[in-house]
Amino acid sequence: MSGSVPAVQLEGITKRFPGVVANNRVALEVSPGEVHAIVGENGAGKSTLMKILYGMQRPDEGTIRVNGAEAHFRSPKDAIAAGIGMVHQHFMLADNLTVLENVVLGSEPTLGPVIDFARAKERIKKLSGSYGLPLNPDRLVEDLAVGERQRVEIIKVLYRGARILILDEPTAVLVPSEVDDLFDHLRELKQEGVTVIFISHKLEEVLVLADTITVMRAGRTVATVKPQDVSRRQLAELMVGSELPRPETKESTVRDEVAMSVTALTVRTPGGRVLLDSLSFDIRRGQVVGIAGVEGNGQRELVEAIMGLAPVIEGRIQLGDRDITHWPTRSRREAGIGYIPEDRQDMGLLLPSPLWENAMLGHQTKPPFARGPWIDVAGARDRTRQVVDGFRVATPGVDVPAYALSGGNQQKLIVGREMIAEPLVLIAAQPTRGIDVGAQAAVWDQIRRARKAGLGVLLISADLEELIGLSDALYVIFRGRLVAKLDPQTVTPQELGAYMTGARQEVMEG
Ligand SMILES: Nc1ncnc2c1ncn2[C@@H]1O[C@H](COP(=O)(O)OP(=O)(O)O)[C@@H](O)[C@H]1O
Ligand SMILES: [Mg+2]
Repeated sequence: MSGSVPAVQLEGITKRFPGVVANNRVALEVSPGEVHAIVGENGAGKSTLMKILYGMQRPDEGTIRVNGAEAHFRSPKDAIAAGIGMVHQHFMLADNLTVLENVVLGSEPTLGPVIDFARAKERIKKLSGSYGLPLNPDRLVEDLAVGERQRVEIIKVLYRGARILILDEPTAVLVPSEVDDLFDHLRELKQEGVTVIFISHKLEEVLVLADTITVMRAGRTVATVKPQDVSRRQLAELMVGSELPRPETKESTVRDEVAMSVTALTVRTPGGRVLLDSLSFDIRRGQVVGIAGVEGNGQRELVEAIMGLAPVIEGRIQLGDRDITHWPTRSRREAGIGYIPEDRQDMGLLLPSPLWENAMLGHQTKPPFARGPWIDVAGARDRTRQVVDGFRVATPGVDVPAYALSGGNQQKLIVGREMIAEPLVLIAAQPTRGIDVGAQAAVWDQIRRARKAGLGVLLISADLEELIGLSDALYVIFRGRLVAKLDPQTVTPQELGAYMTGARQEVMEG
Protein backbone atom coordinates (compact mmCIF):
# COMPACT_ATOMS: atom_id res chain seq x y z
CA MET A 1 0.00 0.00 0.00
CA SER A 2 2.92 2.34 -0.54
CA GLY A 3 1.96 5.87 -1.26
CA SER A 4 -1.58 5.51 0.02
CA VAL A 5 -2.86 7.94 2.62
CA PRO A 6 -2.91 6.44 6.14
CA ALA A 7 -6.37 5.61 7.44
CA VAL A 8 -5.31 6.98 10.80
CA GLN A 9 -2.38 9.18 11.63
CA LEU A 10 -1.79 10.37 15.17
CA GLU A 11 1.03 12.73 15.99
CA GLY A 12 2.29 14.06 19.29
CA ILE A 13 -0.77 12.93 21.22
CA THR A 14 -0.44 13.79 24.90
CA LYS A 15 -3.11 13.18 27.52
CA ARG A 16 -2.56 13.97 31.19
CA PHE A 17 -4.66 12.80 34.09
CA PRO A 18 -4.00 13.98 37.65
CA GLY A 19 -0.70 12.39 38.58
CA VAL A 20 -0.18 10.43 35.35
CA VAL A 21 0.66 11.09 31.72
CA ALA A 22 -1.52 8.45 30.07
CA ASN A 23 -0.28 9.29 26.58
CA ASN A 24 3.05 10.99 26.07
CA ARG A 25 3.64 12.40 22.57
CA VAL A 26 2.28 9.27 20.97
CA ALA A 27 2.61 8.69 17.25
CA LEU A 28 0.61 6.05 15.38
CA GLU A 29 0.09 5.37 11.72
CA VAL A 30 -2.46 2.83 10.51
CA SER A 31 -2.62 1.86 6.83
CA PRO A 32 -6.00 1.43 5.18
CA GLY A 33 -7.29 -2.12 5.17
CA GLU A 34 -4.80 -3.55 7.63
CA VAL A 35 -5.23 -5.18 11.01
CA HIS A 36 -3.10 -3.03 13.27
CA ALA A 37 -2.52 -4.36 16.77
CA ILE A 38 -1.64 -2.21 19.74
CA VAL A 39 -0.01 -4.14 22.54
CA GLY A 40 1.20 -3.09 25.94
CA GLU A 41 0.94 -3.94 29.59
CA ASN A 42 -1.95 -2.77 31.72
CA GLY A 43 -1.80 0.98 32.12
CA ALA A 44 0.39 1.53 29.06
CA GLY A 45 -2.16 3.97 27.66
CA LYS A 46 -3.82 1.89 24.93
CA SER A 47 -7.44 2.54 25.87
CA THR A 48 -6.82 6.24 26.39
CA LEU A 49 -5.31 6.56 22.94
CA MET A 50 -8.26 4.81 21.36
CA LYS A 51 -10.79 6.88 23.31
CA ILE A 52 -9.06 9.94 21.93
CA LEU A 53 -9.31 8.59 18.41
CA TYR A 54 -12.98 7.81 19.00
CA GLY A 55 -13.75 11.29 20.31
CA MET A 56 -14.52 10.17 23.86
CA GLN A 57 -11.61 12.12 25.25
CA ARG A 58 -9.85 15.24 24.08
CA PRO A 59 -6.07 15.18 23.81
CA ASP A 60 -4.12 17.91 25.62
CA GLU A 61 -1.82 18.10 22.63
CA GLY A 62 -1.37 16.50 19.24
CA THR A 63 -3.13 16.02 15.95
CA ILE A 64 -5.47 13.39 14.56
CA ARG A 65 -5.77 12.73 10.84
CA VAL A 66 -8.33 10.36 9.37
CA ASN A 67 -7.82 9.45 5.73
CA GLY A 68 -5.50 12.43 5.45
CA ALA A 69 -7.88 15.04 6.84
CA GLU A 70 -7.22 16.66 10.19
CA ALA A 71 -9.97 15.90 12.67
CA HIS A 72 -11.16 17.64 15.83
CA PHE A 73 -13.61 15.27 17.43
CA ARG A 74 -15.79 16.73 20.14
CA SER A 75 -17.65 13.47 20.75
CA PRO A 76 -17.98 9.94 19.37
CA LYS A 77 -20.68 11.34 17.08
CA ASP A 78 -17.99 13.21 15.18
CA ALA A 79 -15.78 10.13 15.02
CA ILE A 80 -18.66 8.00 13.75
CA ALA A 81 -19.35 10.59 11.08
CA ALA A 82 -15.71 10.23 10.04
CA GLY A 83 -16.18 6.48 9.68
CA ILE A 84 -14.68 5.34 12.99
CA GLY A 85 -16.35 2.83 15.29
CA MET A 86 -15.27 1.36 18.59
CA VAL A 87 -16.19 -1.80 20.47
CA HIS A 88 -15.36 -1.32 24.12
CA GLN A 89 -13.83 -3.65 26.63
CA HIS A 90 -17.19 -3.77 28.39
CA PHE A 91 -20.15 -4.19 26.11
CA MET A 92 -22.73 -1.48 26.07
CA LEU A 93 -25.82 -3.34 24.92
CA ALA A 94 -29.31 -3.27 26.43
CA ASP A 95 -30.04 -6.81 27.62
CA ASN A 96 -33.80 -6.60 27.44
CA LEU A 97 -33.90 -5.51 23.80
CA THR A 98 -33.45 -7.54 20.65
CA VAL A 99 -30.38 -7.58 18.46
CA LEU A 100 -32.26 -5.47 15.92
CA GLU A 101 -33.29 -2.89 18.52
CA ASN A 102 -29.78 -2.69 19.91
CA VAL A 103 -28.25 -2.17 16.52
CA VAL A 104 -30.61 0.57 15.40
CA LEU A 105 -30.71 2.38 18.76
CA GLY A 106 -29.57 5.91 18.13
CA SER A 107 -29.36 5.61 14.38
CA GLU A 108 -32.75 4.47 13.16
CA PRO A 109 -33.61 4.71 9.51
CA THR A 110 -36.86 6.61 9.73
CA LEU A 111 -40.04 6.30 7.72
CA GLY A 112 -41.45 9.66 8.47
CA PRO A 113 -41.55 9.77 12.26
CA VAL A 114 -41.63 5.97 12.57
CA ILE A 115 -38.60 3.70 12.74
CA ASP A 116 -38.49 1.47 9.68
CA PHE A 117 -37.57 -1.79 11.37
CA ALA A 118 -38.17 -3.85 8.26
CA ARG A 119 -35.57 -1.87 6.37
CA ALA A 120 -33.20 -1.94 9.32
CA LYS A 121 -33.53 -5.71 9.56
CA GLU A 122 -32.74 -6.08 5.87
CA ARG A 123 -29.62 -3.98 6.29
CA ILE A 124 -28.49 -5.99 9.29
CA LYS A 125 -28.99 -9.22 7.37
CA LYS A 126 -27.03 -7.83 4.48
CA LEU A 127 -24.20 -6.65 6.71
CA SER A 128 -24.03 -9.90 8.60
CA GLY A 129 -24.00 -11.79 5.31
CA SER A 130 -21.37 -9.75 3.54
CA TYR A 131 -19.07 -9.64 6.58
CA GLY A 132 -19.59 -13.27 7.60
CA LEU A 133 -21.02 -12.32 11.00
CA PRO A 134 -23.95 -14.67 11.65
CA LEU A 135 -26.68 -13.01 13.75
CA ASN A 136 -30.38 -13.42 14.27
CA PRO A 137 -31.86 -9.88 14.53
CA ASP A 138 -34.90 -11.04 16.50
CA ARG A 139 -33.16 -12.63 19.46
CA LEU A 140 -32.99 -10.96 22.83
CA VAL A 141 -29.49 -9.85 23.72
CA GLU A 142 -29.80 -11.39 27.18
CA ASP A 143 -30.06 -14.82 25.53
CA LEU A 144 -26.79 -14.45 23.64
CA ALA A 145 -23.40 -15.88 24.48
CA VAL A 146 -20.55 -13.44 24.98
CA GLY A 147 -19.11 -14.06 21.53
CA GLU A 148 -22.49 -13.33 19.96
CA ARG A 149 -22.89 -10.11 21.93
CA GLN A 150 -19.56 -9.02 20.64
CA ARG A 151 -20.77 -9.70 17.13
CA VAL A 152 -23.79 -7.47 17.81
CA GLU A 153 -21.42 -4.69 18.90
CA ILE A 154 -19.40 -5.08 15.73
CA ILE A 155 -22.50 -5.07 13.51
CA LYS A 156 -23.77 -2.03 15.37
CA VAL A 157 -20.59 -0.19 14.54
CA LEU A 158 -20.66 -1.29 10.89
CA TYR A 159 -24.33 -0.33 10.66
CA ARG A 160 -23.28 3.22 11.41
CA GLY A 161 -21.00 3.11 8.43
CA ALA A 162 -17.66 2.52 10.15
CA ARG A 163 -14.73 1.71 7.89
CA ILE A 164 -12.23 1.95 10.73
CA LEU A 165 -13.05 -0.47 13.53
CA ILE A 166 -11.42 -0.21 16.96
CA LEU A 167 -11.64 -3.24 19.27
CA ASP A 168 -10.40 -2.79 22.84
CA GLU A 169 -9.20 -6.12 24.29
CA PRO A 170 -11.92 -8.04 22.44
CA THR A 171 -10.57 -11.45 23.38
CA ALA A 172 -10.36 -10.85 27.13
CA VAL A 173 -13.94 -12.08 27.56
CA LEU A 174 -13.92 -14.91 25.03
CA VAL A 175 -13.25 -18.63 25.23
CA PRO A 176 -10.73 -20.02 22.73
CA SER A 177 -13.28 -21.20 20.14
CA GLU A 178 -14.91 -17.76 20.22
CA VAL A 179 -11.51 -16.18 19.72
CA ASP A 180 -11.03 -18.29 16.60
CA ASP A 181 -14.42 -17.15 15.30
CA LEU A 182 -13.66 -13.52 16.04
CA PHE A 183 -10.36 -13.76 14.17
CA ASP A 184 -12.17 -15.26 11.18
CA HIS A 185 -14.63 -12.36 11.26
CA LEU A 186 -11.85 -9.81 11.49
CA ARG A 187 -10.04 -11.36 8.53
CA GLU A 188 -13.30 -11.20 6.59
CA LEU A 189 -13.75 -7.53 7.49
CA LYS A 190 -10.24 -6.87 6.29
CA GLN A 191 -11.07 -8.60 3.01
CA GLU A 192 -13.94 -6.16 2.66
CA GLY A 193 -11.55 -3.27 3.10
CA VAL A 194 -12.28 -2.41 6.73
CA THR A 195 -9.33 -1.12 8.74
CA VAL A 196 -9.09 -2.85 12.10
CA ILE A 197 -7.29 -1.54 15.19
CA PHE A 198 -7.02 -4.34 17.68
CA ILE A 199 -5.88 -3.87 21.27
CA SER A 200 -4.48 -6.80 23.17
CA HIS A 201 -1.86 -7.82 25.64
CA LYS A 202 -1.81 -11.41 24.43
CA LEU A 203 1.18 -11.75 22.19
CA GLU A 204 0.32 -15.07 20.54
CA GLU A 205 -2.92 -13.56 19.28
CA VAL A 206 -1.32 -10.48 17.95
CA LEU A 207 1.38 -12.46 16.19
CA VAL A 208 -1.15 -14.55 14.27
CA LEU A 209 -3.67 -11.85 13.49
CA ALA A 210 -1.96 -8.53 12.95
CA ASP A 211 -0.39 -7.07 9.83
CA THR A 212 1.40 -4.46 11.91
CA ILE A 213 2.03 -4.22 15.63
CA THR A 214 2.59 -1.08 17.65
CA VAL A 215 3.97 -1.54 21.15
CA MET A 216 3.09 0.94 23.91
CA ARG A 217 4.89 1.27 27.19
CA ALA A 218 4.28 3.79 29.96
CA GLY A 219 2.29 6.12 27.75
CA ARG A 220 4.61 6.08 24.75
CA THR A 221 4.74 4.16 21.50
CA VAL A 222 8.09 2.38 21.68
CA ALA A 223 8.07 0.38 18.43
CA THR A 224 6.09 -0.49 15.34
CA VAL A 225 6.97 -3.88 13.86
CA LYS A 226 5.77 -6.58 11.48
CA PRO A 227 4.87 -9.91 13.12
CA GLN A 228 7.20 -11.84 10.82
CA ASP A 229 10.15 -9.77 12.03
CA VAL A 230 9.79 -10.39 15.77
CA SER A 231 9.56 -13.31 18.15
CA ARG A 232 7.17 -13.49 21.04
CA ARG A 233 10.14 -12.87 23.29
CA GLN A 234 11.19 -9.70 21.50
CA LEU A 235 7.65 -8.36 21.68
CA ALA A 236 7.44 -9.19 25.38
CA GLU A 237 10.74 -7.43 25.95
CA LEU A 238 9.54 -4.34 24.10
CA MET A 239 6.41 -4.41 26.25
CA VAL A 240 8.17 -4.65 29.59
CA GLY A 241 11.24 -2.66 28.56
CA SER A 242 13.86 -5.10 29.79
CA GLU A 243 15.31 -8.46 28.89
CA LEU A 244 13.40 -11.52 29.97
CA PRO A 245 15.09 -14.62 31.32
CA ARG A 246 16.15 -16.88 28.46
CA PRO A 247 15.34 -20.56 28.18
CA GLU A 248 18.87 -21.57 27.19
CA THR A 249 20.54 -24.24 29.23
CA LYS A 250 24.24 -23.94 29.87
CA GLU A 251 26.57 -26.92 30.18
CA SER A 252 25.48 -30.44 29.36
CA THR A 253 24.17 -32.67 32.13
CA VAL A 254 23.51 -35.64 29.85
CA ARG A 255 24.53 -38.94 31.44
CA ASP A 256 25.06 -42.32 29.84
CA GLU A 257 22.17 -44.15 31.48
CA VAL A 258 19.03 -44.28 29.41
CA ALA A 259 15.95 -43.14 31.33
CA MET A 260 13.45 -44.03 28.63
CA SER A 261 13.79 -45.90 25.43
CA VAL A 262 11.25 -45.99 22.64
CA THR A 263 11.76 -48.58 19.93
CA ALA A 264 9.91 -48.91 16.62
CA LEU A 265 6.76 -47.47 18.17
CA THR A 266 3.83 -47.70 15.80
CA VAL A 267 0.26 -46.64 16.50
CA ARG A 268 -2.71 -47.15 14.22
CA THR A 269 -6.34 -46.13 14.28
CA PRO A 270 -8.82 -48.98 14.80
CA GLY A 271 -9.32 -48.75 11.05
CA GLY A 272 -5.65 -49.38 10.46
CA ARG A 273 -4.45 -45.92 9.47
CA VAL A 274 -0.91 -45.32 10.71
CA LEU A 275 -0.66 -42.47 13.21
CA LEU A 276 2.87 -43.12 14.41
CA ASP A 277 5.25 -44.90 12.13
CA SER A 278 8.06 -46.79 13.79
CA LEU A 279 9.45 -44.11 16.11
CA SER A 280 12.69 -44.83 17.90
CA PHE A 281 14.59 -42.61 20.30
CA ASP A 282 16.26 -42.64 23.70
CA ILE A 283 16.00 -40.15 26.51
CA ARG A 284 19.08 -40.23 28.71
CA ARG A 285 19.20 -39.14 32.29
CA GLY A 286 19.90 -35.43 32.52
CA GLN A 287 18.77 -34.93 28.94
CA VAL A 288 15.95 -32.89 27.46
CA VAL A 289 14.72 -34.42 24.21
CA GLY A 290 12.60 -31.98 22.24
CA ILE A 291 9.96 -32.84 19.66
CA ALA A 292 9.17 -30.14 17.13
CA GLY A 293 6.35 -30.33 14.66
CA VAL A 294 3.28 -28.66 13.29
CA GLU A 295 0.37 -29.62 15.48
CA GLY A 296 -1.44 -32.78 14.48
CA ASN A 297 1.57 -34.69 13.17
CA GLY A 298 1.53 -37.34 15.89
CA GLN A 299 2.66 -35.45 18.97
CA ARG A 300 -0.54 -36.24 20.85
CA GLU A 301 -0.44 -39.90 19.91
CA LEU A 302 3.17 -40.15 21.03
CA VAL A 303 2.34 -38.75 24.45
CA GLU A 304 -0.72 -40.98 24.76
CA ALA A 305 1.32 -44.06 23.87
CA ILE A 306 3.97 -43.21 26.45
CA MET A 307 1.36 -42.49 29.12
CA GLY A 308 -0.71 -45.57 28.29
CA LEU A 309 -3.70 -43.46 27.39
CA ALA A 310 -4.26 -44.97 23.98
CA PRO A 311 -4.40 -48.64 23.11
CA VAL A 312 -1.20 -49.26 21.36
CA ILE A 313 0.73 -50.28 19.46
CA GLU A 314 3.61 -52.11 18.11
CA GLY A 315 7.09 -51.60 19.31
CA ARG A 316 8.46 -51.17 22.81
CA ILE A 317 8.60 -48.50 25.50
CA GLN A 318 11.08 -49.00 28.31
CA LEU A 319 11.42 -47.06 31.52
CA GLY A 320 14.94 -47.71 32.71
CA ASP A 321 15.21 -51.43 32.03
CA ARG A 322 11.51 -52.20 32.52
CA ASP A 323 9.28 -52.87 29.54
CA ILE A 324 6.17 -50.75 30.22
CA THR A 325 4.66 -51.02 26.75
CA HIS A 326 1.43 -52.55 27.98
CA TRP A 327 1.24 -51.19 31.52
CA PRO A 328 -1.77 -49.19 32.66
CA THR A 329 -1.30 -45.46 33.12
CA ARG A 330 -1.32 -45.58 36.90
CA SER A 331 1.49 -48.13 37.05
CA ARG A 332 3.57 -46.02 34.68
CA ARG A 333 3.13 -42.98 36.88
CA GLU A 334 3.98 -44.97 39.98
CA ALA A 335 7.06 -46.35 38.27
CA GLY A 336 8.31 -42.80 37.79
CA ILE A 337 6.80 -40.93 34.87
CA GLY A 338 5.76 -37.37 35.59
CA TYR A 339 3.27 -35.85 33.19
CA ILE A 340 2.44 -32.28 32.28
CA PRO A 341 -0.52 -32.68 29.92
CA GLU A 342 -1.13 -30.40 27.00
CA ASP A 343 -4.65 -29.67 28.13
CA ARG A 344 -4.13 -28.67 31.72
CA GLN A 345 -7.74 -27.72 32.42
CA ASP A 346 -9.14 -30.96 31.10
CA MET A 347 -6.48 -33.56 31.77
CA GLY A 348 -4.29 -31.93 34.38
CA LEU A 349 -6.77 -30.56 36.89
CA LEU A 350 -10.18 -30.99 38.44
CA LEU A 351 -11.13 -27.34 38.20
CA PRO A 352 -13.97 -27.33 40.77
CA SER A 353 -11.95 -29.28 43.36
CA PRO A 354 -9.71 -27.72 45.99
CA LEU A 355 -6.00 -27.45 45.33
CA TRP A 356 -5.19 -30.19 47.82
CA GLU A 357 -7.19 -32.67 45.77
CA ASN A 358 -5.56 -31.43 42.60
CA ALA A 359 -2.13 -31.78 44.13
CA MET A 360 -2.62 -35.52 44.50
CA LEU A 361 -4.15 -36.28 41.10
CA GLY A 362 -2.36 -39.25 39.65
CA HIS A 363 -0.50 -39.83 42.92
CA GLN A 364 -3.44 -40.49 45.23
CA THR A 365 -2.56 -44.13 45.87
CA LYS A 366 0.76 -43.37 47.51
CA PRO A 367 1.91 -41.57 50.65
CA PRO A 368 1.57 -38.83 51.66
CA PHE A 369 -1.85 -38.87 50.05
CA ALA A 370 -2.93 -42.32 51.09
CA ARG A 371 -2.62 -44.33 54.26
CA GLY A 372 -3.55 -47.86 53.35
CA PRO A 373 -6.76 -47.64 51.34
CA TRP A 374 -7.70 -44.23 52.79
CA ILE A 375 -7.01 -40.74 51.63
CA ASP A 376 -4.82 -38.92 54.14
CA VAL A 377 -6.34 -35.45 53.99
CA ALA A 378 -3.90 -33.89 56.43
CA GLY A 379 -0.99 -35.38 54.53
CA ALA A 380 -2.44 -34.18 51.25
CA ARG A 381 -2.91 -30.65 52.53
CA ASP A 382 0.64 -30.57 53.90
CA ARG A 383 2.05 -31.76 50.63
CA THR A 384 -0.02 -29.21 48.75
CA ARG A 385 1.44 -26.45 50.91
CA GLN A 386 4.90 -27.69 49.98
CA VAL A 387 3.99 -27.53 46.31
CA VAL A 388 2.48 -24.06 46.67
CA ASP A 389 5.52 -22.73 48.55
CA GLY A 390 8.20 -24.57 46.62
CA PHE A 391 6.83 -23.74 43.20
CA ARG A 392 5.53 -20.26 44.01
CA VAL A 393 1.91 -20.90 43.19
CA ALA A 394 0.09 -17.64 43.93
CA THR A 395 -3.05 -18.69 45.82
CA PRO A 396 -4.90 -17.61 48.96
CA GLY A 397 -4.76 -21.17 50.26
CA VAL A 398 -4.90 -24.87 49.51
CA ASP A 399 -8.67 -25.11 49.88
CA VAL A 400 -9.64 -22.82 47.01
CA PRO A 401 -10.82 -24.50 43.82
CA ALA A 402 -8.31 -24.84 41.00
CA TYR A 403 -10.38 -22.62 38.72
CA ALA A 404 -9.69 -19.69 41.03
CA LEU A 405 -6.04 -19.69 39.92
CA SER A 406 -4.66 -17.96 36.83
CA GLY A 407 -3.49 -20.21 34.00
CA GLY A 408 0.14 -19.64 34.95
CA ASN A 409 -0.47 -20.62 38.56
CA GLN A 410 -2.48 -23.68 37.55
CA GLN A 411 0.47 -24.77 35.46
CA LYS A 412 2.93 -24.15 38.31
CA LEU A 413 0.74 -26.34 40.52
CA ILE A 414 0.84 -29.17 37.97
CA VAL A 415 4.58 -28.88 37.46
CA GLY A 416 5.11 -28.82 41.23
CA ARG A 417 2.87 -31.82 41.76
CA GLU A 418 4.78 -33.84 39.19
CA MET A 419 8.26 -32.76 40.25
CA ILE A 420 7.76 -33.25 43.97
CA ALA A 421 6.96 -36.92 43.30
CA GLU A 422 10.57 -37.29 42.09
CA PRO A 423 9.99 -39.05 38.78
CA LEU A 424 12.66 -40.57 36.52
CA VAL A 425 11.16 -39.14 33.39
CA LEU A 426 9.08 -36.03 32.81
CA ILE A 427 6.75 -35.81 29.82
CA ALA A 428 6.06 -32.12 29.22
CA ALA A 429 3.47 -31.38 26.53
CA GLN A 430 3.16 -27.69 25.60
CA PRO A 431 4.20 -26.77 29.14
CA THR A 432 4.09 -23.00 28.70
CA ARG A 433 1.30 -22.58 26.19
CA GLY A 434 -0.95 -19.65 26.98
CA ILE A 435 0.65 -18.66 30.27
CA ASP A 436 2.18 -15.33 31.15
CA VAL A 437 5.88 -14.66 30.73
CA GLY A 438 6.59 -14.87 34.46
CA ALA A 439 5.04 -18.32 34.80
CA GLN A 440 6.79 -19.35 31.60
CA ALA A 441 10.16 -18.46 33.09
CA ALA A 442 9.25 -20.44 36.22
CA VAL A 443 8.34 -23.54 34.19
CA TRP A 444 11.57 -23.28 32.17
CA ASP A 445 13.45 -23.05 35.41
CA GLN A 446 11.83 -26.25 36.67
CA ILE A 447 12.65 -28.11 33.48
CA ARG A 448 16.28 -27.03 33.80
CA ARG A 449 16.29 -28.20 37.40
CA ALA A 450 14.75 -31.54 36.44
CA ARG A 451 17.48 -32.01 33.86
CA LYS A 452 20.17 -31.11 36.33
CA ALA A 453 18.73 -33.54 38.88
CA GLY A 454 19.17 -36.34 36.35
CA LEU A 455 15.64 -36.71 35.00
CA GLY A 456 15.06 -37.50 31.39
CA VAL A 457 12.67 -34.96 29.90
CA LEU A 458 10.55 -35.26 26.79
CA LEU A 459 9.54 -31.76 25.70
CA ILE A 460 6.81 -31.38 23.12
CA SER A 461 6.22 -27.79 22.22
CA ALA A 462 5.00 -25.48 19.50
CA ASP A 463 7.31 -22.76 20.81
CA LEU A 464 10.47 -23.16 18.73
CA GLU A 465 12.46 -20.85 20.90
CA GLU A 466 11.57 -22.91 23.94
CA LEU A 467 12.51 -26.13 22.15
CA ILE A 468 15.81 -24.82 20.88
CA GLY A 469 16.63 -23.21 24.20
CA LEU A 470 15.88 -26.14 26.48
CA SER A 471 16.58 -29.26 24.43
CA ASP A 472 19.78 -31.28 24.31
CA ALA A 473 18.53 -33.23 21.31
CA LEU A 474 15.81 -32.20 18.95
CA TYR A 475 13.65 -34.33 16.68
CA VAL A 476 11.11 -33.19 14.13
CA ILE A 477 7.91 -35.16 13.76
CA PHE A 478 6.07 -35.00 10.44
CA ARG A 479 3.09 -37.13 9.49
CA GLY A 480 3.75 -39.57 12.30
CA ARG A 481 7.43 -40.04 11.54
CA LEU A 482 10.60 -38.62 13.01
CA VAL A 483 12.09 -36.93 9.96
CA ALA A 484 15.14 -35.23 11.45
CA LYS A 485 17.42 -35.22 14.45
CA LEU A 486 18.97 -31.82 14.87
CA ASP A 487 21.48 -30.15 17.12
CA PRO A 488 19.74 -27.42 19.12
CA GLN A 489 23.05 -25.59 19.46
CA THR A 490 23.26 -24.90 15.75
CA VAL A 491 19.80 -25.27 14.26
CA THR A 492 17.91 -22.15 13.17
CA PRO A 493 14.15 -21.66 13.38
CA GLN A 494 14.12 -21.47 9.56
CA GLU A 495 15.77 -24.88 9.26
CA LEU A 496 13.39 -26.34 11.81
CA GLY A 497 10.49 -24.86 9.88
CA ALA A 498 11.64 -26.52 6.67
CA TYR A 499 11.56 -29.93 8.34
CA MET A 500 8.29 -29.23 10.11
CA THR A 501 6.49 -28.47 6.87
CA GLY A 502 7.98 -31.48 5.13
CA ALA A 503 10.00 -29.33 2.74
CA ARG A 504 13.10 -31.13 3.99
CA GLN A 505 13.55 -34.65 5.27
CA GLU A 506 16.50 -36.55 6.58
CA VAL A 507 16.99 -40.28 6.45
CA MET A 508 16.64 -41.45 10.03
CA GLU A 509 18.18 -44.71 11.03
CA GLY A 510 16.50 -46.73 13.69
N1 LIG B 1 -10.24 8.71 33.27
C1 LIG B 1 -9.06 8.56 33.87
N2 LIG B 1 -8.73 9.28 34.96
C2 LIG B 1 -7.53 9.16 35.55
N3 LIG B 1 -6.57 8.33 35.12
C3 LIG B 1 -6.84 7.57 34.04
C4 LIG B 1 -8.08 7.65 33.36
N4 LIG B 1 -8.06 6.78 32.31
C5 LIG B 1 -6.85 6.19 32.35
N5 LIG B 1 -6.11 6.65 33.38
C6 LIG B 1 -4.73 6.26 33.71
O1 LIG B 1 -3.98 6.40 32.51
C7 LIG B 1 -3.05 5.33 32.40
C8 LIG B 1 -3.30 4.60 31.10
O2 LIG B 1 -4.55 3.91 31.19
P1 LIG B 1 -5.18 3.12 29.97
O3 LIG B 1 -5.18 3.97 28.77
O4 LIG B 1 -6.50 2.60 30.44
O5 LIG B 1 -4.17 1.92 29.78
P2 LIG B 1 -4.33 0.50 29.06
O6 LIG B 1 -5.58 0.54 28.26
O7 LIG B 1 -3.09 0.36 28.23
O8 LIG B 1 -4.37 -0.52 30.15
C9 LIG B 1 -3.22 4.49 33.63
O9 LIG B 1 -2.27 4.88 34.59
C10 LIG B 1 -4.62 4.83 34.09
O10 LIG B 1 -4.74 4.65 35.47
MG1 LIG C 1 -7.24 -0.75 28.42
